[in-house]
Amino acid sequence: MEITSGERPVGKVRIGGIVLLVTSWAAGTELPAGPGRELLIRACTGCHKAEEFAAYRHTRDEYRSIVKRMGDRGAQASAKELDQIADFLANNFLKVEDPSKVNVNRATAKELETRLELTAKEAEAIVSYREQHGDFRALGDLYVIYGVDGRKIQAAKDKISF
Ligand code: HEC
Repeated sequence: MEITSGERPVGKVRIGGIVLLVTSWAAGTELPAGPGRELLIRACTGCHKAEEFAAYRHTRDEYRSIVKRMGDRGAQASAKELDQIADFLANNFLKVEDPSKVNVNRATAKELETRLELTAKEAEAIVSYREQHGDFRALGDLYVIYGVDGRKIQAAKDKISF
């Protein structure tokens, strides 16, 4: 049997090969073409469904740190391959940052201080809480930080993103 890519025959494979090929194609139908796509299907669909990935929105840096974590969890890919996977995800499913907002998971203490009208101490408390507990997911996460005035967070809520 002949496998074609567009008009061009790309190879002849035995029936066993076709089954494999079709399975990996079916697993990634929701994923656009691009470098890193096959690596993602190979290394990541053991634990995730391929269509899950299309729903994620992260920045490039976030994808880099996530795939690193997935490598630690057991994803079978070299560091270089993980980078390619992160780039594939960032190229296709990127979170676009709103420049009018302050991403409380990314901003430096100085940015938090000036843009959210906090004291230097409050800004530092946010950064050190983030370093200890991981990313904030919702506004409520900021209210529990000791030393940060909740009224200021409330006042700045429209300027905050995650
Ligand atoms: C051994 C199983 C396993 C493999 C392989 C794996 N993951 Fe995961 N992944 C998980 C688990 C468990 C979680 C939830 C816990 C976490 O976020 O660490 C997760 C969470 C995620 C998240 C959500 C993170 C967030 O903060 O929203 C993304 C995105 C992700 N994985 C991508 C990948 C990619 C890309 C690969 C391939 C390089 C991959 N995973 C391979 C188990 C796995």
